Amino acid sequence: MVEKNLDFRSDTVTRPTPEMREAIYNAVVGDDVFGEDPTVNELEALAARMLGKEAGLFVTSGTQGNTVSVLAQTSRGDEIILERRSHIYLNEVGGLAVIGALMSRTVEGELGWIRPEDIRASVRGSNIHHARTSLVCVENTHNTAGGIPLTVEQMKADWEAAKEHDLGVHIDGARIFNAAVALGVEVNELAQYGDTVQFCLSKGLSAPVGSMVVGTEELIKKARKYRKMLGGGMRQAGIIAAPGIVALKRMVDRLADDHANAKLLTDGLGRIKGIKILYPVMTNMVYIDVSGLGWTGREWVEACAKLGWKSRGYTPVIRLVTHYGIEGEDIEAFLEGITDLVSRI
Ligand SMILES: Cc1ncc(COP(=O)(O)O)c(C=O)c1O
Repeated sequence: MVEKNLDFRSDTVTRPTPEMREAIYNAVVGDDVFGEDPTVNELEALAARMLGKEAGLFVTSGTQGNTVSVLAQTSRGDEIILERRSHIYLNEVGGLAVIGALMSRTVEGELGWIRPEDIRASVRGSNIHHARTSLVCVENTHNTAGGIPLTVEQMKADWEAAKEHDLGVHIDGARIFNAAVALGVEVNELAQYGDTVQFCLSKGLSAPVGSMVVGTEELIKKARKYRKMLGGGMRQAGIIAAPGIVALKRMVDRLADDHANAKLLTDGLGRIKGIKILYPVMTNMVYIDVSGLGWTGREWVEACAKLGWKSRGYTPVIRLVTHYGIEGEDIEAFLEGITDLVSRI
């Protein structure tokens, strides 16, 4: 029996499965800062293998994973190219500037995809006045563009443009497994176009804590050192790595259910006059605009609460995320309830 979790706010709210709790209880541990936690070592090797990389690193969060990846590939004063609404640029507390002394060069993407010509046009030349461009960050799936999965071809095109100029590529793949499942490709086909890739265990994959960084031995060695600097050396971390192993072995294929539920939700909401669907729905996110109902975000949140659901809305644009703990019958019940509430406005 799946524990219900009627919460549209994010896939970060997922709770560990019974198998994860069992794995936590039974985890064999050691001191990971000494490299002696067998469970962490197993998770890191598994992540690297699945994404087709030489090495892996268990980090506390997606933000820490992105930060150590970027630091490993840049030097102070460099400029990095990012999509204008990327998570690293918008939602990671300015860590690149504070910790890395890095400049951000943002470009407007096409549904989250940085066009390769914009990479080429953004690279600084050798002019003595200019910062050195060293890295491109690509986000897949792209959160604020509707959870869109970037295709293998799009990733390849950005990679090739970056490599023409000797730039590194970091993939913020917080939800890269959602992308792979939605596109019907192996995750390593996407990951091959990043020198480093960060992905989250604690989102749709439902582990309670943590993210992974994968890349070459050399980059992971650097990232590990930065992780220590940021206070992310975690000792008997096998306790939290164990559910990560379960996440990678058992929770990838079921992401397709979350995507199907997001489509079900989209179809139902799309039938309600006054609700506008904002992006193509391809993974586990549905962005809607409820201003056509005459509602603010707060009124939407209150309506959901009446139906027993949590939702989040600072503006009339709302992001709804499907995940483990939400099933098709829950979405159907929600749609029935919200249709009824709207009909009484
Ligand atoms: C695309 C993306 N990257 C990175 C992160 C950061 O992950 P964390 O919240 O674990 O720091 C998030 C979190 O929502 C995200 O959506």
